[in-house]
Amino acid sequence: MGGIAKHSLIDKYKEEFYEQYKNSPSIISIAPGRVNIIGEHTDYNKGFAIPTAIDRWILTLASIRNDQEVNIFSINYNRKIIFSLKNFDDKGELWERYVKGAIYIINKKYDLTRGFNIVIGGNIPIGFGMSSSAALEVSIVGAIFSLCGLEHDKYKILKICNLLEKEVLGIKSGMLDQYASIFSNKKQFLLIDFLKLEHSYINSNIKDSCWILINSMVSRELMYSAYNQRVDECKNAIALINQKTNKEYNLNSIDVDAIELIKENKVLYKRLLHLITENKRVFKMRDAILKGDLNTIGHLLSESHESLSKNYDVSCKEIELIIELSRKHSGFYGGRIMGGGFGGCTINLIKADLKENFISYVKDEFYNKYEYDIKIETINFSSGLDIVTF
Ligand code: GLA
Repeated sequence: MGGIAKHSLIDKYKEEFYEQYKNSPSIISIAPGRVNIIGEHTDYNKGFAIPTAIDRWILTLASIRNDQEVNIFSINYNRKIIFSLKNFDDKGELWERYVKGAIYIINKKYDLTRGFNIVIGGNIPIGFGMSSSAALEVSIVGAIFSLCGLEHDKYKILKICNLLEKEVLGIKSGMLDQYASIFSNKKQFLLIDFLKLEHSYINSNIKDSCWILINSMVSRELMYSAYNQRVDECKNAIALINQKTNKEYNLNSIDVDAIELIKENKVLYKRLLHLITENKRVFKMRDAILKGDLNTIGHLLSESHESLSKNYDVSCKEIELIIELSRKHSGFYGGRIMGGGFGGCTINLIKADLKENFISYVKDEFYNKYEYDIKIETINFSSGLDIVTF
């Protein structure tokens, strides 16, 4: 997948909309997937991260109906669901729960009066850790907001998506993915401050290299229960330090010395050690991106991986092999497990002229050990949520 230009997706999906509803959509809401350069598991701890949107999108094409019925056709799943604004359930496949949940949360807050005709589709590979589900949320919420003239504030869209994850899907997630999908800027990296919920942009001087994702193909089914467990561990770790010091530390104000106070609790200590060092790496990464210092960027990615693997315990043996093989290749500046973890993919900075050689080396060597093919994608960056009205 991938590599399909945005405008050809738009043309194709408009035809599908006509096919389904015999008229044209009033709006198209286009939300990208994302990668995270650094700042992993810092979002729900109110730290910092540097993600950016990529050139793969979820598109929601929509128009308002005169009754209270909602019709949604999914191009990727080739399936249509119909329900009433008055009658929600959260059953069905995951994509259905996302779209129904989004409309349910918006309806609860804004009391929608008319239903919609919707077509949804996209080219974000599922299971690569490129946040296809966050893009789906942002795309549909953006579409409904725009169609109903609800709010022109993108932070409202962000908060609705977060409520959806928490209330309907039961994930105690942070806002990294949705934030990147909404606010990214193609030519710069996004630096998010999750405590203040604000961001700035970083100019990039990175040259002669490319970013690639390597998918271990290890399914992340367990991710959400283990993810929620990490969220609780971090909360407990910070609470324990505050109790011991009688202070009100947050992730940005605790220093490495203070965590020595909880050393006897090995698990909480390791979690906090990851968070504090990762949060500091975000700023070192910002400086390295500004300077275009490829070796430092690579080094920070590798340090982050070590910490995610040893302290945060979110890696797995297939990912470890990918990293070990990558390190042996001279085209590799650095890389790390990306996203929630427990499988999924690594993000890597590679010398542009050695890319093909690197890819075939890692693929072949991985196959020799595990006898299945891993998938590799080269990514380009893009801007955040785009809503086109007709
Ligand atoms: C997942 C979550 C994000 C973030 C990352 C880890 O992708 O959806 O909110 O917590 O894991 O950085």
